[in-house]
Amino acid sequence: MSQETKKSKKKEVKKEKAAQVQDNVKKALDTDADKDDKLKFGPSISFPYQRVWSRCILILGVLFIVWYNSRQGKEIYLAKQKDVLVSRTQNVECSKEYKNELDQFPGCLPEKCGRVVTDKLVTSTESDVLLRLVMNGMSLGGSDGGATILDLHSGALSKNSNFINIYKLEEREKLFNAADFAIYKVVKTKIQHAIAHNFGVDVDKIYLTKPTFFSRMTSAPAVTIHDEYWHAHVDKETYEHFHYTSLLYLNDFGRDFDGGKFVFIDKNNVNSTVEPRKGRVLMFTSGSENLHAVEKVKSGTRYALTVSFTCDVNAAISDPSYRNVLK
Ligand SMILES: *[C@@H]1O[C@H](CO)[C@@H](O)[C@H](O)[C@H]1NC(C)=O
Repeated sequence: MSQETKKSKKKEVKKEKAAQVQDNVKKALDTDADKDDKLKFGPSISFPYQRVWSRCILILGVLFIVWYNSRQGKEIYLAKQKDVLVSRTQNVECSKEYKNELDQFPGCLPEKCGRVVTDKLVTSTESDVLLRLVMNGMSLGGSDGGATILDLHSGALSKNSNFINIYKLEEREKLFNAADFAIYKVVKTKIQHAIAHNFGVDVDKIYLTKPTFFSRMTSAPAVTIHDEYWHAHVDKETYEHFHYTSLLYLNDFGRDFDGGKFVFIDKNNVNSTVEPRKGRVLMFTSGSENLHAVEKVKSGTRYALTVSFTCDVNAAISDPSYRNVLK
């Protein structure tokens, strides 16, 4: 083979190689262009109404969740046991009956109906004194069922499936002292002022009324109707003369007992719950704006004091007197 032909052959090979490279580059560019097209326009649509369908499903899903949640209802915490509240207020619209009835008692209509919780009104010492007082008092009796009440005003105490009068018992002098009664009055007066302040009424327009009483609740099954403390109710329907209700808790949910939470049952199946805490005061207007229930106590013993107020001077009661204890 001559030099010439060798050279021309080499040239041809080079040319072929060059053409191949060009071809490859072209192919590569083509696939890139293809990819670009895909990025710009997304994957090909498999059927024309896909987006409409997926939106419908999404909307239906959201509606289902909304419906499901509204059916289930909701539990809001007005106060957890571990909270230490200076004051927490939840306003609700006054019921018509409540508002109308209060027309008879000028200056006694609240600025707003609702509920207030405070942990700063009653001291830990005052709570302890009252807890000792109620435990001593109840040692003289006690219900066969889950709820024992002690009313220091009348002296009524649950015993078995009845009531006795503690002021007729011999042991009373050993169990109570004048200081206990003084503390009871101090606590009542503080609560009366707090109600007046929080609901914007004159403190002289509200009067202590009955029943005002201590309660002890356990998980023991009910024997009489008085033991069934867990039914939802409106205070004013049970006691017509009630206008403001308050509770003082003497021991702690989650520590001294389980269950026994206080629940306001509102419209649309919304519950507002208060977990009892020693020294905690809950105050609320007594009308049907405040339908409520106490959950059944599951274990342990729950102690509380109910302090009730009326705008009707004819339904007023006086403070319990230590003279009842003296013989
Ligand atoms: C609200 O409280 C009542 C009474 O305790 C109870 O029967 C009901 O199941 C509660 N509802 C919700 C949504 O927690």
